[in-house]
Parts: sequence; C-alpha cells; structure tokens
Amino acid sequence: MIYYQDAHLTIRDFAPEDVAPIVQGEIAQGWHASAEKYEDHLRDARAGRAVALAAVWDDHAAGYVNVHLPGTEGPFAGRGWPEIVDFGVLEAYRRRGIGSKLMDAAEAVAARHSDRVYLAVGLHNGYGSAQRMYIRRGYMPDGSGAWYNNRPCTPYDTIYTNNDDLVLYLTKRLTEPEGGYVLRSARFVAADVLKRAISPGDTVIDATMGNGHDTLALCQWVGEGGRVYAFDVQAQAVEHTRARLAAAGVADRAALYCLGHEHMAEKVNGPVSAVVFNLGWLPGGDHAVTTRWETTRAAVESALGLLKKQGVLVICAYPGHAEGDREREALTAFLTALRPQDFNVLAHRFLNAGPGAPECFVVQKQ
Ligand SMILES: C[S@@+](CC[C@H](N)C(=O)[O-])C[C@H]1O[C@@H](n2cnc3c(N)ncnc32)[C@H](O)[C@@H]1O
Repeated sequence: MIYYQDAHLTIRDFAPEDVAPIVQGEIAQGWHASAEKYEDHLRDARAGRAVALAAVWDDHAAGYVNVHLPGTEGPFAGRGWPEIVDFGVLEAYRRRGIGSKLMDAAEAVAARHSDRVYLAVGLHNGYGSAQRMYIRRGYMPDGSGAWYNNRPCTPYDTIYTNNDDLVLYLTKRLTEPEGGYVLRSARFVAADVLKRAISPGDTVIDATMGNGHDTLALCQWVGEGGRVYAFDVQAQAVEHTRARLAAAGVADRAALYCLGHEHMAEKVNGPVSAVVFNLGWLPGGDHAVTTRWETTRAAVESALGLLKKQGVLVICAYPGHAEGDREREALTAFLTALRPQDFNVLAHRFLNAGPGAPECFVVQKQ
C-alpha cells in the first residue's frame, strides 16, 4: 500500500527488498546493523501485529518506521494504543522532510486504531533530533520517568547504562488538525456514541471489563447516582478494574463480577441505557482467554433484552486473528438479521486499514 507520494518520496509498506539497502546504509554510517531486526518487523507485519513502513527517495530505501497494533511495552501496555517503534532515516537522506512524512504516515495508521499513540525515545544524544521532533509534534512524557529494559527506573539508582534500552515514553492524542476534520477510529466512535446515549443516573453494563478503561468511563458518565455492572471471566481483570475505579474515587458506582457476560441477565434488572462489549483478549494478558462467539452471542441476546427504548448496544470487534475473524463474521450476520422494526444497526470500519483494525457496531432499540 502507498501512504504518501510526491516527486521524490514514496512512503509504502516495507518490503523484503528494502532490508539489504537499509542495512548497508546503516553499516556505511558506522552502525552495527543486521537484517534480523527488519526480518522481525516483516514477520510482525505479515502476522497483522504491526504495520511496517518504508520511505523510498528516488528509488532508494531511505527510512523506516513501524506501528505495533497495539503496543505491548512500557507504561501504556494494556491500553490497546498503537506504539510507534524503530523509526529511522539514513543519515545520507536526512534534512529532506522524510522523517516527518514517515511520522505523518505512522500516525495516520495509528489513528485508524485509536485516538492515542505512544512511543519511546532514547535519552542519549544519538536521539537528540528525534527528541526535538517528538516534542514539536505534540508528544508528552507520561510522568512515569525513565524506563530501562521495559521496567520503570528507581529514583537515584545508578545501575543503568545510557544505551538504547534507557528510554522515556511519550504519548500523543491524535486530534483533528486546526480547522480540519478527520475520520476517527472505531474506538472513538464507540466512546462518542456511549457518551451521547448515557445520562447521569443511568444504569449501564460493561460486558468485557478487561483493564477497566471502559468501566471507568461509564462510571464517570453515569455520575454519582448511576450504576455500572461489569463482567469479566478473569480475576486479574476484576482486580485491575477495582484498583482503577478506586484510584478515580468512583468504585461505589460499580458492581464488578468475575463471571461470563452470558450470565448478565442473572445479575442485572433492566432496563439499561447502554451495554458495551470490547471483544478479544485482555491487552497484556493471556491471548488464549478471548471472547468466543458462542458465549458472545448469548450475551448479546441478553443485552438486547435488557436495553430500554433508544438504549444502545456498542460492540468493538477485532478481526485479524482466527477467533476474531470468526466472531466478527458471525456477529455481522446476527446483527444484520435483527428486525428493523425492533432495532437500528450501524457498522463502522475503515475498509483499507489492513488486518486488525477495530470495527464498531452500534445497535439502538426502537
Ligand atoms: C479487549 S478486553 C476488554 C478491554 C476493556 N474493555 C478495557 O477497557 O480495558 C476483552 C476482555 O473480555 C474478557 N472475556 C472473555 N470472555 C468473556 C466472557 N465470556 N465474559 C466476560 N468477559 C469475557 C477477557 O477476559 C478480556 O479481559
């Protein structure tokens, strides 16, 4: 796929034939470069875990950047946010705007998956121009300080080496350009619909608690007089969510159940104004524990039964892996068959975002 093109520069998917010229270029500038890292990026891209981009200047591979979908390291692991990793432009091709076009393309890829993106930058002066560029582009440190080998550093400890593994994590909200309008990811649409459909005092359900980000947002939207029922089959998810709600001072608004969502009707008396499902596995958790269509279907049927008139069911699905594809196909067929007299059904997805981009389904009771 081509992401950007002008008279000299093309940004496109990284290809196997880019490996040799990039490695040779890095060796020529005195780096200890090897093909292995680039082979890994190609493997991640083929598996749908990442998008790998190459910058080509007049037919010469000149730079590269990768977007992990989602990121798995640092303070933002588990948030489902894309991470921009391993960004570089060969020294011979610098000062031509290539780095900034690569970052534009990487952020556009990330924006199809989330409203946030993050990255890590090294602390030594080899990263000097990258540090300045990220700040200019609006990246902010998250406040967790420096990290070494994927662990936060301890204040005043002296054991760290200022190499490429000593990094600061930075994050950026992918907002619309000044005076402009951009299409937003399925996750954004899901949050936007929920925010509009929920009023203070409402009762709502989070069918897949995970790390509790959605549960927390629901608690904030229903306010002090509202009630949130949240379900997950993993004790770890319930613990994370409980801690997150307590830290935000809203724990008393939620009832958390370590229980499959297919049992929601046993715990909740309707009507409810919203039910949210964020399908798939716990980010940062065991990928084997993923939602499955058989139980998702039972839970979706319960959710439809519990909705009040004009209440919304919002489901984010993640195709791109075997169970995710199966679940999305079956869910699409199931929702398509709902009678229009009873429900309106909307699907939102980027058709050209590649594998793994989330899709959002919204069902509103008539
Ligand atoms: C993508 S995560 C949810 C992320 C979450 N919404 C958040 O904000 O962090 C999907 C979650 O669904 C959970 N899950 C899988 N099967 C389930 C079931 N039958 N009932 C409830 N939760 C289930 C998984 O354990 C996982 O934590």
